[in-house]
Amino acid sequence: MTRFYVTTPIYYVNDAPHIGHAYTTLACDVLARFMRLDGREVHFLTGADEHGQKVEKAARDAGTTPQEFTDRVSRNFRELAQQLDISNDDFIRTTEQRHKECCAELWRRMAARKAPNGESNIYLGKYAGWYAIRDEAFYGEDELTVGADGKRRAPSGAEVEWVEEPSYFFRLSAWQDWLLDYYAKGNAEFIGPATRRNEVTSFVRQGLVDLSISRTTFKWGVPVPGDADHIMYVWLDALSNYVSALGWPANEADPQGLFARFWPADLHMVGKDIVRFHTVYWPAFLAAAGLEPPRRVFAHGWWTVEGQKMSKSLGNVVKPADMIARFGLDPVRYFLLREVPFGQDGDFSQAAMVRRINTDLANDLGNLGQRVLSFIQKNAGASVPRPGAFTPEDARLLDAGAGLLAQLRPELAAAQAFNRALEAIFQVVAEANRYVDVQAPWTLRKTDTARMETVLYVLAETIRRVAIVLQPFMPSSMAKLLDQLAVPADARDFAHFDARLAPGTALPPPSGVFPRHQEQAG
Ligand code: MSP
Repeated sequence: MTRFYVTTPIYYVNDAPHIGHAYTTLACDVLARFMRLDGREVHFLTGADEHGQKVEKAARDAGTTPQEFTDRVSRNFRELAQQLDISNDDFIRTTEQRHKECCAELWRRMAARKAPNGESNIYLGKYAGWYAIRDEAFYGEDELTVGADGKRRAPSGAEVEWVEEPSYFFRLSAWQDWLLDYYAKGNAEFIGPATRRNEVTSFVRQGLVDLSISRTTFKWGVPVPGDADHIMYVWLDALSNYVSALGWPANEADPQGLFARFWPADLHMVGKDIVRFHTVYWPAFLAAAGLEPPRRVFAHGWWTVEGQKMSKSLGNVVKPADMIARFGLDPVRYFLLREVPFGQDGDFSQAAMVRRINTDLANDLGNLGQRVLSFIQKNAGASVPRPGAFTPEDARLLDAGAGLLAQLRPELAAAQAFNRALEAIFQVVAEANRYVDVQAPWTLRKTDTARMETVLYVLAETIRRVAIVLQPFMPSSMAKLLDQLAVPADARDFAHFDARLAPGTALPPPSGVFPRHQEQAG
């Protein structure tokens, strides 16, 4: 059985979960569900990034200890996963013992091995430079801008401060050619989308400087093995979660262990802001430790809200729980992945959301299901109709439905093009709606009931296929729709995609799956 290991970034717990976090996790959930339905053995990981200066400071501001603080706020992200009906197999926290042990071993292995230029991977030096706590990242003077307030800022807009302290360094400079080679050699799919691959490649080509990987001026982190005055750079700590959650290094020699079965990861899903960490630092750390790099990193775009950057100070942070309460979970899941080509930035607006719900879900899909199923209920004995011979029009619609899975596999598994996958599915929905209008079963009811049964069968069968492939996107509504078609629970995976509905099977009374959204006054 082919396996599939997909990860979300681990979230900074000091932030309240918002629609941007929901987006990354949701995209991974759709892939994990799709792969499971496709018969793959899946491991889907998400979690919380709990160390670092930013979290230490947030805990201090909240008047508590970092441990107590992270225990409390990491729950917000666990709850986010539940609210969104996320099917993750594990949730890692970087404050867990399993994780800290992994970080220490990764460090030891990196330190014990030589860089490609024959020098040690890790050396002790002194860091003097700019650091942005908000990004937990170092910046070169040439990357900064000075604002009207005289403050220096990173390209992300985060303020930087000057730090000067003893630090261990990772000899990233010596990994440049290795990285360029890795991006090129048969690994063209390592970074997606292609625009990001080009950006990263030219960044690495310009030359890499060694990376400071330890800090001494605060305490909230994993101690450096053999030098407890230092704690590890929070990104080295955080990135290790992808292997610590698989039980590495404890299970390294176990062929049945999670690590042997799932590493290297098939996909690290990330936002565009953290591509460099995942495509430059992370593969270099792994290679330095003698471990395989991940297979693919995909960077999605960012959401603005009603045309503006989402920020606490603007007070426009969109909370997933509020959206779900207002629109329902599956419509929110659908909207986020349908509205914007995955990889590009998008704007979240209530009007766009209402439009999608009322057009795609209520009018097109919801109406199709409701029309066909209630017609069968009233006029075809409340059971799966018995088809006669198929006309070319019947065959065309049946083929369109049958062809969906082969279309979706490359769109989702290879390209992460969620919007194109949904577009393809909704094209079939549109065809089915046109077919109902043209075939007019309500007329056939009076003139040719045998033909009416065939038409209804073709429609029910098309709805079945659409519902099967939509399950990863909208699990609970599609479960409802498949219940109404009396598709047994064990016949909803892709192995049963081509198994037709059995004529004569009794169908339960239908009920609408997607109500129209009416805005409440006030
Ligand atoms: N802790 C690091 C990741 C470590 S992974 C080893 C981190 N955390 S984060 O909480 O700040 O961001 C997590 C994810 O949320 C990122 O992929 C980021 O791109 C995404 N988003 C945060 N705001 C977003 C939007 N407004 N829109 C879309 N995604 C956004 O970075």
